Amino acid sequence: MQTPSIPVIAIDGPTASGKGTVAHRVALQLGFHYLDSGALYRLTALSAIRHQVLLTDEHALAKLAEKLPCRFSGDQVWLANENVTSAIRAEEVGNTASKIAALPTVRHALVGLQLGFRMPPGLVADGRDMGTVIFPHATLKVFLTASVEARAERRYKQLIDKGFSANMQDLLKDLRERDARDSNRAIAPLKPAEGAHILDTSHMTADEAVEQVLRWYAAVKKHA
Ligand code: DC
Repeated sequence: MQTPSIPVIAIDGPTASGKGTVAHRVALQLGFHYLDSGALYRLTALSAIRHQVLLTDEHALAKLAEKLPCRFSGDQVWLANENVTSAIRAEEVGNTASKIAALPTVRHALVGLQLGFRMPPGLVADGRDMGTVIFPHATLKVFLTASVEARAERRYKQLIDKGFSANMQDLLKDLRERDARDSNRAIAPLKPAEGAHILDTSHMTADEAVEQVLRWYAAVKKHA
């Protein structure tokens, strides 16, 4: 169900493009809700790993996604009674998320949960298919990207800061593989939505990217 009166800013882009940081800050600035849709795929992946569900068992994976006992509180994420904010950021979980995200039944199972985030006064949603599939009538659509090298460097810093080990060559290889998987899958592939503004942040700070998105949003609102 679409609720057109509640504005949505859809920010899509490849992994480690910085869209999470940008989307989160834009939401804070506007006082909007924030949906990190990747976290839902990561939660499903973590749940599958924990329950030892085979990645070939599409039916069982979709069931996990449908009944995901997740809760978001500020920037903290819970799976049942466990705070999994850090656990879902591990590379193994991200890679598994990318694999199960190619399964139509898993994607379908997560649609209702995502639409439920659209609440007044507005929503900033980040992911791969926010502007193409989940919120095709979004008020503003942004495709946020950066070179694979810039993204690998950012991911490297993030992982080290969070106390995970990281290797630049492995990260580059993983990012390329994940990009290919996210972009070439048959269902909801990663691609700019029609009418999306393209924002290449390779040589931009997060603050500059946030300001650009806010400028675009102000312009759209003015013409609405
Ligand atoms: O944005 P992220 O790295 O946290 O996302 C993890 C994986 O989830 C990513 O490899 C692809 C998938 N994903 C997706 O298919 N659709 C979305 N809307 C968000 C994420």
